[in-house]
Amino acid sequence: MRIITVASAKGGVGKSTFCCGAGKILALHSKNVLLVDMDIGVRSLDILLGVSEKTVYNWGDIIKGNCDYRKAVIGVKNGLSLLPAPLDFDDEYTPEAFVKMLEIFRKDFDYIFLDAPAGLESGFNLAVKSADSCIIMSTPDAVSIRAASYAATNVRKTGVSDVRLVVNKFNKKIHKKINVDEIIDSVGARLLGIIPDSAEIYGSVDGHKIPYDSKGNQAFLRISRRICGENVPFRTKNL
Ligand SMILES: Nc1ncnc2c1ncn2[C@@H]1O[C@H](COP(=O)(O)OP(=O)(O)O)[C@@H](O)[C@H]1O
Ligand SMILES: [Mg+2]
Repeated sequence: MRIITVASAKGGVGKSTFCCGAGKILALHSKNVLLVDMDIGVRSLDILLGVSEKTVYNWGDIIKGNCDYRKAVIGVKNGLSLLPAPLDFDDEYTPEAFVKMLEIFRKDFDYIFLDAPAGLESGFNLAVKSADSCIIMSTPDAVSIRAASYAATNVRKTGVSDVRLVVNKFNKKIHKKINVDEIIDSVGARLLGIIPDSAEIYGSVDGHKIPYDSKGNQAFLRISRRICGENVPFRTKNL
């Protein structure tokens, strides 16, 4: 079991999209996956997964003792569950309280993804302090790479040493001059995978499926296999 935080210091790079895409594929391949929304106030995973109407409780309610921990978890589909974020920050949401709350779920799930917010404030802090490993997301532009590098440095400061990089929204035509090795060097993390810029991924909101054989979904599949410890070769021609 692994608790994996998906982070960047910047919004819009695809953290939430990645959590949903990887979570769905892992669930399809018989893993039990919990997605935890860490974006306090502007949560989004419930919308992306098409379960916003089922959202009643959140992890803040578990910490405060407002509900049994099982009640806050939403079953999305076989093997995939969501734990929504609270709408407001509260002083009770300390790293210690959050780590303790999350420990309850370790026995029930193979993988727990913490979808961190943009910025390096409270939600990021809680997510990183609870993580066994961290995936840093970046798109192939200079601003995003700088934000990813900044996030990676802060993740390491908290003692998480297993840090991997996912390059998202890669467009072969637009980014033909971009050297992925340079992104890897700037962020200082080993590559976990590259996800193409894809209309199918863009449209995968509100529970819409990404076609299984699409290039975007196949990128999620390769990354998920690497998360499970398989040795999957990197081939940019697949993108
Ligand atoms: N690989 C991709 N191809 C096309 N659009 C993408 C891709 N990844 C993310 N997006 C789109 O980018 C936007 C921001 O993604 P999101 O996951 O909300 O970012 P973050 O969680 O980092 O703020 C969304 O509209 C999403 O559909
Ligand atoms: Mg997000």
